Amino acid sequence: MKIAIGSDHAGFEYKEAIKNHLTSKGYEVLDKGTFSKESTDYPIYAKAVAEEVSSGNVDKGIVICGTGIGVSITANKVPGVRAALCTNEFMARLARQHNDANVIAVGARVIGLEHAIAIIETFLNTSFEGGRHERRVHLIEEIDNLKC
Ligand code: RB5
Repeated sequence: MKIAIGSDHAGFEYKEAIKNHLTSKGYEVLDKGTFSKESTDYPIYAKAVAEEVSSGNVDKGIVICGTGIGVSITANKVPGVRAALCTNEFMARLARQHNDANVIAVGARVIGLEHAIAIIETFLNTSFEGGRHERRVHLIEEIDNLKC
């Protein structure tokens, strides 16, 4: 599975740790920055990750900032992206099973690193259930089409 990851300065250390963890597990990880702890603007990196997902270049995206809120708001502006801000494994599992989320957002100032990794693993290892949820995801996609 190919994954794009990006963060601002607040999420930089988590991004590095999560990237190393996923690489060691055999995932192909595309790092869209930021590349230091210097203060920067989260929309740059959330947009870059979301565009990789939207274009189909990667299977899933991970975006990180202090709260996870700014990156999730940004990623959800990109057509075809369904970004879910998750603070526990239950949310990560349901984001995949019910919402077919293709980007996960986490807040480095909200949850511990080991918890973030467990949440991300749950997200990456859970499939969309389809069925009645398919109809609801299509209704979201119709909103994307209005933007064209
Ligand atoms: C940066 O200070 C902080 O605002 C950012 O990481 C994020 O939490 C925004 O939503």
